[in-house]
Amino acid sequence: MGVPRVRMAVQSNLVSIAPMLTKLQRDCATPLPVLRHVADAMADDMRAGLAVDGGSDLKMILSYVDSLPTVNEKGLFYALDLGGTNFRVLRVQLGGKDERVIATEFDQVSIPQDLMFRTTEDLFDFIASGLAKFAQKEGGKFHLAQGRMREIGFTFSFPVKQTSIDAGILIKWTKGFAVSGTAGKDVVACLNEAMERQGLNMCVSALVNDTVGTLAGARYWDDDVMVAVILGTGTNACYVERVDAIPKLQGLKSTSGRTIVNTEWGAFSNGLPLTEYDREMDVESINPGEQIFEKTISGMYLGEIVRRVLVKMAEAGALFGERVPEKLSTPFVLGTPHISAMQQDNSKDLQAVGSILYDVAGVAAGAPTNVPLPCTSSLCRINYFPNLGCLGTKSGTGRSSFRKSSVTQCQVNSDLSARRIVVEVCDTLAKRGGRLAGAGIVGILQKMEEDSKGTISGKRTVVAMDGGLYEHYPQYRRYLQDAVTELLGSELSKNVVIEHSKDGSGIGAALLAATNSKYKH
Ligand code: GLC
Repeated sequence: MGVPRVRMAVQSNLVSIAPMLTKLQRDCATPLPVLRHVADAMADDMRAGLAVDGGSDLKMILSYVDSLPTVNEKGLFYALDLGGTNFRVLRVQLGGKDERVIATEFDQVSIPQDLMFRTTEDLFDFIASGLAKFAQKEGGKFHLAQGRMREIGFTFSFPVKQTSIDAGILIKWTKGFAVSGTAGKDVVACLNEAMERQGLNMCVSALVNDTVGTLAGARYWDDDVMVAVILGTGTNACYVERVDAIPKLQGLKSTSGRTIVNTEWGAFSNGLPLTEYDREMDVESINPGEQIFEKTISGMYLGEIVRRVLVKMAEAGALFGERVPEKLSTPFVLGTPHISAMQQDNSKDLQAVGSILYDVAGVAAGAPTNVPLPCTSSLCRINYFPNLGCLGTKSGTGRSSFRKSSVTQCQVNSDLSARRIVVEVCDTLAKRGGRLAGAGIVGILQKMEEDSKGTISGKRTVVAMDGGLYEHYPQYRRYLQDAVTELLGSELSKNVVIEHSKDGSGIGAALLAATNSKYKH
């Protein structure tokens, strides 16, 4: 009678998980008063950061972008985008008002993990060599006016203290980067030196944050774009501010009277509903105490928070049977794409959730029983015994690849109730993240509204959104929109259009290189 006993043990253990889930949901709750507090605090922190450098958690960095694209931009421009796990290069032929974007081409290269921990030269040499390879393939519809050097819009998505439109000093790395020797240096100079080492005759005409590139790119098509938000590996927002609302500018004027401010809102921390899991992840991170908003709502961290909750549930409540899945103990093994994919599983038995748990954490799907079932993993199609785990190798496609040794490797299971709990955990953290991001957006709108004395509320205002998290996590997107509507009320929120601006930042950076071309003046 061993089988029923095992089953009972698992079921009774799952009961003790229920209070853990309830506590998690309580700690992550974002009812209207919490959202309101976050929106107000965001607006206050923005004001304090605009008053004086270091005035609040928000750096409120001046972008030196005073004039946005006009649609009259013409010529061949390049964009280079460094900000996460990939870097992208793009060339675009701009044709002015009538033709707009005549042709684009791009290339994407993933950044080897180790480069994130090596030297500045190593990182920038890698980027410059990717750029050189890409530039060599120019041809077809692309042509450069005679006597002109190729100009680049350089999107560098880290906190940079800009000193002009084409220069800026890295304040610190974020998003897991820890390249030595870059903080305190002008990143354009670093790129120029690397381009020289490659023998590349190109120059940076605009250095921009990804939020700023996104705003410029979206504004090219729609004059009502006033705010841009990135929700990807990291998170950040920028917006169009009146120059006379920036005391720390100390009288410096811009021709348009407006400028884009990069808030660096990832560093916001005021009044967030945080849990023990957030605190532990922060303490163990490479930047403890920093980027708390980013660690609560962005793609780099959501999967990791879920993983930490699941490990606790497996330890304290035997969520996956008698053992804690070994693979699940590895930090960052569960990514945000995994938790999003699990939430898209509408099947009755949550089969896809089972497969992901198996692939990521070696958790075999099914209730403990000795009946062999087909393996649900997409990689392993042979039979497995749920109470013993998978008996095949990952690449195995038949019984010939049976491996006895793997029997002991995966004696952990997820039955339907465990899988339901996993989905609930994912939903709880996506909900908190999406709703807090929505509150952040309302905070920015509030700040703009208060200063412009009601001129925005009557007007269509577009918030351009980009980033993989926003693009690929529908529930997160919905939670964000719901929070904005709840906070603004259904009437006012009709004026606020939250719109996906896919990959707008590349074209935006190229457009800003054109606007700030060294050949125009
Ligand atoms: C991080 C960076 C910020 C960037 C954001 C989104 O928060 O500090 O500059 O905009 O990630 O990529």
